[in-house]
Amino acid sequence: MGRLAKVFGILIALAIAAAGALYLMLPGELPKSAHPAEVNKTTQVIARGEYLARAGDCVACHTMPGGREFAGGRAMPTPFGAMYVPNITPDDETGIGAWTPDEF
Ligand code: HEC
Repeated sequence: MGRLAKVFGILIALAIAAAGALYLMLPGELPKSAHPAEVNKTTQVIARGEYLARAGDCVACHTMPGGREFAGGRAMPTPFGAMYVPNITPDDETGIGAWTPDEF
């Protein structure tokens, strides 16, 4: 076996040993908090909605420059004229607060 092959073999063996050691160091189960945070269905839905709104960057289009976040009004130029982005705040009157899941 050439010198290079030996060094390579040793490096691979070390990498496998390191991976094994790291695996053994993984905590089996996270320790339970003495004071678990309040988690209920509503906070989960709100947190999920916030995550999706951030991921989709809804605020980028649904906010007029300098305007209230998600309140719409921003003109989106299109080849067939400006399109005004709607208000998607939770307001029942001006936003989408009164929408239900079966709106569509
Ligand atoms: C690239 C710009 C853009 C982004 C980003 C965007 N929207 Fe929109 N959205 C629009 C436009 C333009 C309309 C209007 C479409 C129309 O009138 O047919 C619209 C319409 C809507 C409507 C319909 C409102 C109504 O009153 O009819 C909802 C609800 C909506 N968007 C939610 C979202 C959500 C939630 C996100 C993020 C996940 C998002 N939008 C991201 C541009 C955007």
